[in-house]
Amino acid sequence: MFFQIVFVFIALISVISATATGTIKGRLDLAANNITGFVSTRTSFKLYQIGNFSTKYPHTATAIFQDDEGHFEFSNLPLNEGVNETTYYVMYPASMDFNLKPNRILIEFKNLENGTLQLNAFKNLFGRENFPSKDIIYPEKLESMKVDPYIKVELLHKAPIRSYLQARNVSIFSTGIIGSILNSRWKLAGVITLIALVVFPIIVEKLDPETARAIREETKRKQREKYGAVASK
Ligand SMILES: *[C@@H]1O[C@H](CO)[C@@H](O)[C@H](O)[C@H]1NC(C)=O
Ligand SMILES: *[C@@H]1O[C@H](CO)[C@@H](O)[C@H](O)[C@H]1NC(C)=O
Ligand SMILES: *[C@@H]1O[C@H](CO)[C@@H](O)[C@H](O)[C@H]1NC(C)=O
Ligand SMILES: *[C@@H]1O[C@H](CO)[C@@H](O)[C@H](O)[C@H]1NC(C)=O
Ligand SMILES: *[C@@H]1O[C@H](CO)[C@@H](O)[C@H](O)[C@H]1NC(C)=O
Repeated sequence: MFFQIVFVFIALISVISATATGTIKGRLDLAANNITGFVSTRTSFKLYQIGNFSTKYPHTATAIFQDDEGHFEFSNLPLNEGVNETTYYVMYPASMDFNLKPNRILIEFKNLENGTLQLNAFKNLFGRENFPSKDIIYPEKLESMKVDPYIKVELLHKAPIRSYLQARNVSIFSTGIIGSILNSRWKLAGVITLIALVVFPIIVEKLDPETARAIREETKRKQREKYGAVASK
């Protein structure tokens, strides 16, 4: 009987302490790309408790991906006790590979009167140094974020993800007839010779008509001699 009471007591305590901790679920949405390899180890999410806290030091935590779809989670977060009490955390992504937004997220846990724990999240926009606080005389409006089923962190620019090494665009100079000529030394030499054979007489004709005529005469004479020689055989 005594042990049963103790057991119930322990169970009760564990239930009470369970209600006094919070959980934050998040996901890095990489636009349908799964997170694999080094990328998963080079991105993490950090959490820092701000405002009032009941523990000796503000709670800090780091979360990494739970799966290749970018899910991450902070659990067992200490919360301030009491009705209408709030607990604040700031969460921020740290990544070597991506520029992510929001760059900082304010997390608010609130103990409602009916016993439920309310979770709110507000994003910090780039260019704003601090989260607007209720202590400021003219606070800016906090921009609320969806928390269910998770807080979404995205790429700053939704550009397609490219690998660090990428083959160059295959251009007109490396494919087809032109490509095949440029890539072969012999074909290139042939083309240059052909061009020279066509172009050389034209250039000579233009620069030096006398010599050009002499060359033509000489060629004709040689041909005549050749055919003459053939004929006389
Ligand atoms: C990501 O992974 C899931 C299962 O882990 C798979 O169903 C899905 O096809 C993958 N997506 C890509 C883009 O690789
Ligand atoms: C922090 O706690 C003190 C004392 O409990 C209280 O006076 C103060 O209003 C609290 N501040 C906030 C931001 O909740
Ligand atoms: C908690 O907040 C609600 C709404 O602001 C208020 O009606 C209620 O009196 C507060 N309860 C306590 C115990 O301060
Ligand atoms: C507690 O109150 C909030 C808002 O007042 C409401 O959304 C929520 O459903 C309530 N929860 C319960 C268990 O009554
Ligand atoms: C190469 O570039 C052209 C035009 O710049 C583009 O139409 C084509 O899709 C590109 N090809 C590849 C393989 O990227």
